[in-house]
Amino acid sequence: MKRKKKINSLYIHIPFCSNICPYCDFVKLIKNDLFIDQYLKELKKDLHNIKNGYKKFKSIYIGGGTPSILNCKDLEIILRILFKLKKINCEFTIECNPEDINIEKLKLLKKYGINRISIGIQSFNEKILREIKRDYQIDYFKLIKLVKKYIKNINVDLIYGFNGQTLNDLENDLKKFTKLNINHLSIYSLIVDKNSIFFNQGYKEQNEDDSRIFYDYIVDFLRKNGFKRYEVSNFAKKKKYSRHNLNYWKNGQYLAIGIGASGYVDNFRYRIAPSFNEYIKGKRIIEKEILTKDLMKEYFFITNLRLEDGFKIKEFNKIFKTNFLIDYKDIVSELLKEDLVMIKSGYFSCTDKGIAVLDRILLKFM
Ligand SMILES: C[S@@+](CC[C@H](N)C(=O)[O-])C[C@H]1O[C@@H](n2cnc3c(N)ncnc32)[C@H](O)[C@@H]1O
Ligand code: SF4
Repeated sequence: MKRKKKINSLYIHIPFCSNICPYCDFVKLIKNDLFIDQYLKELKKDLHNIKNGYKKFKSIYIGGGTPSILNCKDLEIILRILFKLKKINCEFTIECNPEDINIEKLKLLKKYGINRISIGIQSFNEKILREIKRDYQIDYFKLIKLVKKYIKNINVDLIYGFNGQTLNDLENDLKKFTKLNINHLSIYSLIVDKNSIFFNQGYKEQNEDDSRIFYDYIVDFLRKNGFKRYEVSNFAKKKKYSRHNLNYWKNGQYLAIGIGASGYVDNFRYRIAPSFNEYIKGKRIIEKEILTKDLMKEYFFITNLRLEDGFKIKEFNKIFKTNFLIDYKDIVSELLKEDLVMIKSGYFSCTDKGIAVLDRILLKFM
């Protein structure tokens, strides 16, 4: 019998949404029962191939789009297979939109071992929610209380930097978040990508100076409330870091299935083309990027330097059979002088000042 390969993480993309948010540039399409049937049929084939070719996973992440939009029958189709793919102590996450969460779904998720839920709240501000077409009336306090009965490990996604949003609005969002007593927050600055509705409407991203003021405010507020910023946009209490995402940021390998999903295996990174029509015909158009040593180094920096703890210099030296502090001597001393990076207990990482200008630092290593 052929030996099974070992990769620790698996991502599954569910592209359906009930409506399209104006800021979103993720691979998604409007929900339709026929499309869902066709998609799940193909996804099942990919999952079976994975079951036959790979060992069980330490982390599984069902993302979207909106996985929670699937009804219980459809969700169960994939959960039943995924249940067999997870290691006993696997971190098993699903992304949910708040309006989809109900007792029946939570029971189902728990039954199949989902132990982490990521809820896309985006903002608690009614005006902003209306602007991003997510103006449902939800009592978040009640909702989170209900979720906690079934799944303890919760993340909330928020976005900041909307037009007209003030620091006071941001403070209110953060205060409302902390009242929910949740141990993980992902908070992103609004990106207006050219594939989004906002872009076509001429919506402008927050300018750099304001964005910096908002970001510094967030970091300060969350630290005062006991959170560690362990990655640029991710904050956790009680070490409730996302194992799945940490694997990305530590430049670990992962499998990914579904349209538009990206993976990293052996010496290449790949993306499954975002074509629904091709996918349901059984075609998997895979865009591959072969990783040369230089590209591997670039990815290593891009991922690891997002982490507050950075990377272990010895590990870099081992992977690339080199000496980091000699190879990058001039860059490192210049960045140290500017107080943008630090070396502590054998780790190389960005300072607070450095994380705020991460793109500038990364350019130096490219
Ligand atoms: C893949 S999306 C999908 C999650 C889920 N469908 C939802 O809308 O909550 C994951 C997260 O990315 C963030 N996101 C999506 N588009 C963004 C944008 N243009 N700028 C900043 N954050 C964005 C949102 O916080 C969102 O919750
Ligand atoms: S933000 Fe979420 S719900 Fe909105 S369109 Fe994107 S994936 Fe769908």
